[in-house]
Amino acid sequence: MNFPILSTGAALPRTCVSNDDLVARGVETNDAWIVSRTGIRQRYICEKDESTFTLARDAAVQALERAGIAAADVGVIVVATCTPDLSFPSVAALVQGAIGAPTTCAALDVNGACSGFIMALATAKGLLAQGMGKHALVIGAETFSRVVDWNDRGTCVLFGDGAGAVVMGCTDDGVKGLTGDAAPQGLLAVELGMDGTQAGCLKSSGGVSSTQTAGVVVMQGREVFKQAVRQMGQVPPVLAQAGLALGDVDWLVPHQANVRILEAARDALGVAADKLVVTVDKHANTSAASIPLALDAAVTDGRIARGDIVLMQAFGAGLSWGSAVVRW
Ligand SMILES: CC(C)(COP(=O)(O)OP(=O)(O)OC[C@H]1O[C@@H](n2cnc3c(N)ncnc32)[C@H](O)[C@@H]1OP(=O)(O)O)[C@@H](O)C(=O)NCCC(=O)NCCS
Repeated sequence: MNFPILSTGAALPRTCVSNDDLVARGVETNDAWIVSRTGIRQRYICEKDESTFTLARDAAVQALERAGIAAADVGVIVVATCTPDLSFPSVAALVQGAIGAPTTCAALDVNGACSGFIMALATAKGLLAQGMGKHALVIGAETFSRVVDWNDRGTCVLFGDGAGAVVMGCTDDGVKGLTGDAAPQGLLAVELGMDGTQAGCLKSSGGVSSTQTAGVVVMQGREVFKQAVRQMGQVPPVLAQAGLALGDVDWLVPHQANVRILEAARDALGVAADKLVVTVDKHANTSAASIPLALDAAVTDGRIARGDIVLMQAFGAGLSWGSAVVRW
């Protein structure tokens, strides 16, 4: 069975906020500190009429249009988010209703923080493999601007809002038309990991069942930095599962947390600098949306081409991690 990635889509809030704009908004920081510690130059922040749902919907609609797939042909919708519009129903439910996907579709959210998109890919693959349709919308969508403590300059400058989506197909044979050969296509292998004993390193300070609030982001920055580099700097088992080696990787698309984390992990892996896709400078950390937004950027500007081997790597709250390898 093949799980081709047919298209990507992206949605960003209307308002782009530079580091200087943050200062103008009253955050005690400066452009030089943020750029030197993180590589972040700007982020997008939702206005009142924008939300995780509206971003997820817009990214999904764009991905469907680019794939030439009608909403009626979607069998699975998985939204990775930890910043949903409502505690329930899920963002996936809102997207299903808004785009007019069939009521027979499997639609659910995955709360995996920054590893959420890899979890969503794994979930969508499993649902498609069980026969729940021929096409899945896999979406990462977040509005971290709504859960950061704007008085905590150590965290609020790091995050942004956005959504990215892919349409994943499911076929029994080769995917002629994508690469024109019979080699395995699309999502070749995916793996996930979790160490819940480290939950305190990066978490929300509240939740429905504890404080009846969404809480705000609380993070042990240095510890998270160290763990992220250690985890993302290891050769992920997905490569061997897919019968590939690091040398086969054309594009490394990691979770976009901090350019120093990305470069340290890339160095540890020994991957060439020009194979690393970086969008954290433009989007900041958009949690579960960061990998699909980075994918969309590199596909739409022509870097990622059909047949390329793409390695995605995520790391985040949990502490959690995950990797996926795709023959594009
Ligand atoms: C957050 C992070 C950039 C902080 O960098 P750091 O070198 O550890 O910085 P510290 O928190 O030790 O702070 C150093 C100094 O900068 C100051 N500082 C913190 N945030 C600041 C800001 N936004 N602007 C200006 N100064 C700031 C601190 O107050 C401190 O000042 P002091 O030395 O006078 O006390 C870094 O730890 C990091 O990137 N961690 C990983 C975060 C992440 O990516 N999380 C998501 C993973 S999915």
